[in-house]
Amino acid sequence: MENNIKLNLEYSGISNHEIMTYSQTVKKVHKELNDSTEDKKNFTGWVNWPQTYDKKEYEKIKKIANKIKGDSNILIVIGIGGSYLGARAAIESLKYNKEKQSNVEILYVGNNLSANYINEIIDYVSDKEISINVISKSGKTTEPAIAFRIFRNLMENKYGIDGARKRIFVTTTKRKGALYKIAMQEKYAKLSIPENIGGRYSVLTAVGLLPMAVAGINIDKIMEGAKFAQEKYSDDNLKYNDCYKYAVARNILYEKNKNIEIMGTYEPNLFYFIEWWKQLYGESEGKNYSGIFPSGAIYTTDLHSLGQYVQEGRRNLFETILNVKNTDSDIIINYDEENLDELNYIAGKPISYVNQKAMLGTIQAHVDGDVPNIIIDIDRLDETTIGHLLYFFEKSCAMSGNLSGINPFDQPGVEKYKENMFNLLGKYK
Ligand code: PA5
Repeated sequence: MENNIKLNLEYSGISNHEIMTYSQTVKKVHKELNDSTEDKKNFTGWVNWPQTYDKKEYEKIKKIANKIKGDSNILIVIGIGGSYLGARAAIESLKYNKEKQSNVEILYVGNNLSANYINEIIDYVSDKEISINVISKSGKTTEPAIAFRIFRNLMENKYGIDGARKRIFVTTTKRKGALYKIAMQEKYAKLSIPENIGGRYSVLTAVGLLPMAVAGINIDKIMEGAKFAQEKYSDDNLKYNDCYKYAVARNILYEKNKNIEIMGTYEPNLFYFIEWWKQLYGESEGKNYSGIFPSGAIYTTDLHSLGQYVQEGRRNLFETILNVKNTDSDIIINYDEENLDELNYIAGKPISYVNQKAMLGTIQAHVDGDVPNIIIDIDRLDETTIGHLLYFFEKSCAMSGNLSGINPFDQPGVEKYKENMFNLLGKYK
């Protein structure tokens, strides 16, 4: 397999020498990360997962996906955070470039508590054939639990208890949690989330793979890309490891008071990929009252909203640009006799050409305005590339978090809002 992802630090203002000062620390973290994969209590099961994944479970995922494709127009994915963003990232990124099309539309609930949002989906699916994949590692997260209660009821009313049973698929931890208990009692088909893989690192397990497969994505290729990345980024020599270099570059910029990272792209289909990345990095690194704040931008759209701030606002920003070099389709800008819009100077050019020039112009402007840019060049968006990218960011996140001295696998701060909400709801009365 060819390497179709390349890190370019030319516009980052960071010298190779600065990067290489981290080589011994990187070696040490790399070793700790690798050594810890044997210990089931460490959340590092994802490190070797592209090779060690459960092949039996994998076949079950494919079988369930085929069943859903055979009898449903809609798959409702119920989950929040790491339990839905990875699947959505891959599905949206590959909207225009997947091998097989699927007739099943994927909808997402359980990722908010908005009655309007849920009602809209209830109305939309009322005359459609539905299946549900409820995903929760802990099996007790409030948002998906409420959504599951509502949609289970809807399914039972629509198909009867037996009929619903054949259309509800549960992805949760083996033998633990409320969702597991429901699945056992109701005899729903189950897929499992390995104990030693945390939510936001779980996209390459059944959590991400079932919705992807139903959406028509070739998951063999996703895993192939991830396996390629696993091998490629297992080199502890920083000089040859782009994934670790990205982690180091972020830490160097943070040391230079660049504490907000904007992940930008000129390809709107990557919106949810950036949402996934934000969650992965935000929840992994925002600890001990420190860490880079991860944010996102879709260009050129956001050049007309955030652009002014990026160019001339507070100088604590850096950008990481996902540069998709080849698009799957194009449009030639047509010639116009009258030329009232004065666009004939680019007539005959593909719109992707204009997009590329907009990107180059923006990178230069932002760099001149003291916003360092890290560029990640991506040949094209296809299934192996997405598998590769998912693994790239998981591994660099683990490295980056360790370099900044925090545990990238826990999320203690998330409990605070839950405590307050449960108190306000009277859960403990
Ligand atoms: O990364 C994480 O651990 C979290 O974002 C979880 O994925 C999220 O809170 C959902 O948790 P659960 O799958 O237990 O419902």
